[in-house]
Formats: sequence, C-alpha cells, structure tokens
Amino acid sequence: MSSPRILVLNGPNLNMLGKREPEVYGHETLADLDARCQAKASELGLEADCRQSNHEGDLVTWIQDARENHEGIILNAGAYTHTSVALHDALLAAQVPVIEVHLSNIFAREEYRHHSFISPIAVGVICGLGFQGYDLALEAMAARLA
Ligand code: DQA
Repeated sequence: MSSPRILVLNGPNLNMLGKREPEVYGHETLADLDARCQAKASELGLEADCRQSNHEGDLVTWIQDARENHEGIILNAGAYTHTSVALHDALLAAQVPVIEVHLSNIFAREEYRHHSFISPIAVGVICGLGFQGYDLALEAMAARLA
C-alpha cells in the first residue's frame, strides 16, 4: 500500500527563509525545512509533497487539487493567513484535514496577525515553535489518518 500523501504548503515570503528576519524566522532555509519534512514524513509512513508559492492563486489551485491527490494539508499561508477568504473557501472545498502552522507565535506579534482565516476550519493550529511545528503537525496528521 502506498503512503498517504500530505500536501505541505508554504505561502508568500517563506522562500526567503534564512535571509528574511532571521531573528523571527531563524537561519535555516526553505530547502532545509522541506528536507526535514520529507525525513519526518517517511519516518511516520507518510509522503510529504512540499510546495511553496508567493501567489495566492497557485495556493488556491493546489489546495483544490488536494481533494483528489492528498489525504491532508499542512499549511503555513504566511501573510495570506490574515487576509485570504479565497484560501479559506478552497480549504472548505478540499474536504481533507488541515493543520495550520506558523513558525512564529502570531499572538505575540502585531495585532493584525492575531486573526486567521484558516484557524476556524483547521483541525489544529501550531505556532511559535519554528521548524519543530511542522514535525508536530506531521505527527498529528499521521495519528489522525491511522
Ligand atoms: C508566518 C506568520 C505570518 O504572520 C507572516 O506573515 C509570515 C510567516 C509564520 O510562519 O510565522 O509570513 O506565517
């Protein structure tokens, strides 16, 4: 039997990890994060399909396609978290479990980061734990799909 495929989706500016505000987001890169997710996923018997885009429409299309191609979504929507009704609607249409992740603790930051369009439809939310948050999200997803 093939491993359940999980879409690990990173939104705008997360391609700048390592260069962007390292005091907030750390020194490791998106390639490091993807490699870590692949390793963690295979340890858990999952397959991580890691993607990143700066474009809201790409994220919407990939989320829609997850309905046919993935068993779950782990999503760090970056700033679109706080603005995007389109991502919210796409996630509802996808009908697969969603775990929301943020590297930083969005509740300890500016007030405009406190609201998320993703949280009301996520099965869980992890924030403030850096890359470890993705490990925990993959563990929770594996437990949920077991
Ligand atoms: C973020 C938090 C968002 O507020 C911000 O816009 C990001 C990254 C995080 O991972 O901490 O781009 O999603």
